This record gives sequence, structure tokens and C-alpha cells, in this order.
Amino acid sequence: MSLAEAARAAAVPPFHAMAMARAASELEAAGSRVLHLEVGQPSTPAPRGARDAAVAAIAAGDPLGYTNAAGLMSLRRRIARHYDDWYGVDVETRSVMVVGGASAGFTLAFAAAFDAGDRVAVLEPGYPCYRNALLALGIEPVAVPVGPATRWAPTADVLDALGPLDGLIVASPSNPTGTVLSADVLREAAEWCAANDVQLIADEIYHGIVYAGRAASALEVTRDAIVINSFSKYFSMTGWRLGWMVVPDHLHRVVERLQQNLYICAPHVSQVAGLAAMECQDELDLHVGRYRSNRSALLTGLAAAGLTDVAEADGAFYVYADVSQITDDSMALTERWLGELCVASTPGLDFDLARGHCSVRFSYAGDERDLVEACERLRDWQP
Ligand SMILES: Cc1ncc(COP(=O)(O)O)c(C=O)c1O
Repeated sequence: MSLAEAARAAAVPPFHAMAMARAASELEAAGSRVLHLEVGQPSTPAPRGARDAAVAAIAAGDPLGYTNAAGLMSLRRRIARHYDDWYGVDVETRSVMVVGGASAGFTLAFAAAFDAGDRVAVLEPGYPCYRNALLALGIEPVAVPVGPATRWAPTADVLDALGPLDGLIVASPSNPTGTVLSADVLREAAEWCAANDVQLIADEIYHGIVYAGRAASALEVTRDAIVINSFSKYFSMTGWRLGWMVVPDHLHRVVERLQQNLYICAPHVSQVAGLAAMECQDELDLHVGRYRSNRSALLTGLAAAGLTDVAEADGAFYVYADVSQITDDSMALTERWLGELCVASTPGLDFDLARGHCSVRFSYAGDERDLVEACERLRDWQP
């Protein structure tokens, strides 16, 4: 026993996007006007119907105590129906577990499906918290380098070369590239997982924010995947900490037991609001229209600033740009842009340990005028 931090926890790296957001808000507190292209969250509030439902529940004196571990039955039923509405897929209510954001869903999924020492493949570039949460649980993240040659998708050959695996995490649309994986690619991944006894986890948190075609759910091609989704992005409810999992039969009981013990339940008031949010899709689609226009403004502005080598983004609200013509130290570059231009962005190192020193992620979830001004500052900047 010692009073030092545990070695395993101490080895978990920071989430640089959050560190950048903190540095940006410190600059703002000191009086600077910072242009935020680092934050991966909508600047809009929860939809009107969600806010009204939360206010009404509070005003009515609803105790808003613990719900069942799996969540309010009404919300679970509505989420199950969502799969029929959006994907034509039949999901049973009992498979839906309401959780405290996708982040809690990852902890539950990882703890339910993997043991310490297991090896789980994570795509690079990819969302850093998969890797970091796995590390915190003593599970080994195994990087799968992906790039434009395969439209940022994992191939069977690459997966075969990684040695024995216990899990594979895919995200579509992806953060940071915005790439959408087609149903065929998801099917290939699911078949590879089935053949190799590997648990597939599909992060579908950016579903609904897609600019061309549609994002297929992993549930269209397999019933063995753990699917994780959230109210944070399309539903514009990051701080409400609400998400859901669709859990395959073999993991129902263990996920529910873990939820009871780790979190008890997702926040009750957020569940009330989330249920109402699911009826607000007209309002939410207006946000997607705004992201679409932001995306085109950002791509135009970055091109004028000389940043033309960007991942083709079909969804989410990010542009992942190659900055290798400027630097091989994206961390220092983003720090300079923040200090000299008051433009906040996220170094690629967050998303790709091996190659991210030559990339930067720009978020276009914010205000279009800010995006345009940020690009003008980048254009006029001398390295
Ligand atoms: C790909 C991805 N998954 C999960 C999350 C976390 O989601 P939540 O707010 O639901 O915990 C994020 C947040 O940015 C994300 O980009």
C-alpha cells in the first residue's frame, strides 16, 4: 500500500482536445477572443422539446430518483423503435441499455467483454478515449493503422497481421476523419470478427450527422456486435450525459450487473429529456444543415490557407488535415496557432500516436463566421 497514484492509471495519457479546450478558455478568461475549432460538441442547446420535458418533470416535483439499471422502459422502447425507423432493423427492448453517455458505454462494454491482458484493435487515427479507457482497465490496445487508400477502413489483411485479438472497435462516422463505413465494409469486419472469435464494438455516436448517403448500423449486418450510441452529438445533449448500448444476447446479464454496480443508472432527468428529444428530429436536422454549410466554409477556407490534403469527411463535424508541409510536430503547431492567432484546434497526436504529429483536427461544430475568420488568420500566418 502506498499513497502514490496507481501505475496503470498514471500511464493513461491526457485527452489533448480537452487540454487544448482548457488552454483556450484560460486565454479567454484573460480577455482574448478565441476561435474554437477544437471542441467536438454542438454549440446548440438540447432541442426545445427535451428542455421542456426536463423542466416539466422538475416543476411537477417528480422525484427523479434512480431508474432501473437498464433505464426507463419508455426510453428503451423508443430507442428500440429508432432502429426500425432509421435502419429497418428489429431490436428488442431488452437489448437496449441506457447509459451515462457513450463513454460509460465503453467502460461497460470493455469490462463486460474483455479481461485484463486481452488485446483489442483500435483504428488509428481514431477517438483516443478507446485506447486510453482500455489502458485504464489493463486491456492492451492494438493500433490498426488506416488511411485514405482503404477509405480509413480496416481490411482483413491488416487485421490478420496483428496477431491474436479479442476485440475490434470501429466508429462510423469516425472521429477525427468523418469517414462513413459502408454496410459492406461493416459486414466484412463483422465476418472477420466472427471467424476469429473477436468481439466487435461499433461506435455510432455520429449517426444522424451525415452529408452524403446514410450511415449503416452494424446491426444491419450482425447481431453479435455491441453497438454504442449517444444523445451527445445529433441530439445536441453533451452535458446531459446520456447514451445507449445495444447489447448482444451473450452479454445482457453481465452488462446489466456492471451497470448496477458501476453507475446504478443513467441520470433520470436526462432520460426524460432524451425521450422527448427523439421526437425533435425536424429541429435537429436543421443543425445538420448548419454543419453542412460550416463544412463547406471550412474546406474552402483551409484550402485558401494551403491545407488541401484533408480526409474526405462524409459525416460528423471534423476535418482531419495533413500539415506535414508545415511541421512534424502538430502539438507545437496547434500551441503556436492558439498563442499567436487565438485559433484553437486539436493536434493529430490525440488520434494517432504513430503518425498524428503531421495532422491536425479542425471541428466545424461551432459558428460559421468563426470558422471563416479562423481560416483567414491561418492563411495570413507565417510559420
Ligand atoms: C467517436 C466518439 N465516441 C464517443 C464520444 C463520447 O461521447 P459521450 O459524450 O456520449 O460520452 C465522443 C466524444 O467526442 C466521440 O467523438
